[in-house]
Amino acid sequence: MRIGIYGGAFNPPHRGHAIGAIRAVEQLRLDKLLVIPSGVSPHKPMPDGTPSAASRLDMARIAFRDVPNAEVSDIEIRRPGESYTADTVREIERVYPDSEMFLIVGTDMYLTLERWYDAEYLLSRATPAVTLRYTDALERIEAASVSLERRGVRTEIVRNGAIEISSSALREKFAHRGGAEFVDDEVYRFILRERLYGVKPDFDRLRRYAYAMLDVKRIRHVAGCEEEAVALAKRWGVSVDDARTAAILHDVTKRLTLEEQLELCEIYGIVLDELERESDKLLHSKTAAALSKREFSVNSGVSDAILWHTTGKADMSPLEKIIYLADYIEPNRDFTGVEAMRRLAYEDLDAALLLGLRSSLAELLEKGKIPHPNTLGAIASLERDT
Ligand SMILES: [Fe+2]
Ligand SMILES: [Fe+2]
Repeated sequence: MRIGIYGGAFNPPHRGHAIGAIRAVEQLRLDKLLVIPSGVSPHKPMPDGTPSAASRLDMARIAFRDVPNAEVSDIEIRRPGESYTADTVREIERVYPDSEMFLIVGTDMYLTLERWYDAEYLLSRATPAVTLRYTDALERIEAASVSLERRGVRTEIVRNGAIEISSSALREKFAHRGGAEFVDDEVYRFILRERLYGVKPDFDRLRRYAYAMLDVKRIRHVAGCEEEAVALAKRWGVSVDDARTAAILHDVTKRLTLEEQLELCEIYGIVLDELERESDKLLHSKTAAALSKREFSVNSGVSDAILWHTTGKADMSPLEKIIYLADYIEPNRDFTGVEAMRRLAYEDLDAALLLGLRSSLAELLEKGKIPHPNTLGAIASLERDT
């Protein structure tokens, strides 16, 4: 059996790692590829803000899930003390005594191989396989391979051709609202959900996604809503990132038909009341909230603000109030009294909200429609508090 050993901090695992792994399996004709996130590395101390070993393991399991014959192993994370590759190879040898092992390393690591702990044993048991990127200097690798050959160690070359990104550059990008395109979507969701690497939401990506689902008129409304929500968040001391996220996504499912809305409810396991089942206007806030949570890992404060933006509800949070109002008074809105309501929103949030809720209730009744109980609950709770 041909076994590849692919170790690394995977902090985080990115698309380049996965592509490298696929190339290694193909070119070395591996029956098994063991992906092994390191424990405490003797080569490099982990940088500040490194997620727990368990999180790195989870991310690796997601990132390598589609690599043929790959298996993510926790042997280095489980082993106490320093992580030495020679010890890892010994452990693998015990489990697979007759295997042919390949040690998959990047060029930097390859150049130092002879100085690794217990290199004698390591190199006698595992054939180094160096993954070559386009930009790597071949001369230095050749020199190192000649030196290894003198010890009777042959070198395999894996032509990688993967995207050029390092985990450290990626961590930097995450903190500056970027980086999403360099990792698997699922890994990015994990990072967002667990708030790893000081990640900040990538609003350009969010807008691209949301706008692609909307028509031109609605895009203008959503952009206006974002602008208003951000201004209100600043005025009322609410997280601007949360307000922006909720505003961008609040109408993301608005263009879907009633059937499509119901289909999404099924997929996301959304339970509906009678009024909701018949109204795409009510449904779109529910599906948008669920989609935002599922696809963009927004926090529950944000998804609740999306959820309640149409009906309101009793005892709304400040963010929920802001999104409800931003939707109502964003710059493209033009109805009698909008100016007064806008002014009020910056003077007395609750009074403006009450005004908005009462106006939409009146509008519903005028059209002969049944108001949602949550709207009545919202009005009652505000009247009680003021
Ligand atoms: Fe809406
Ligand atoms: Fe809206």
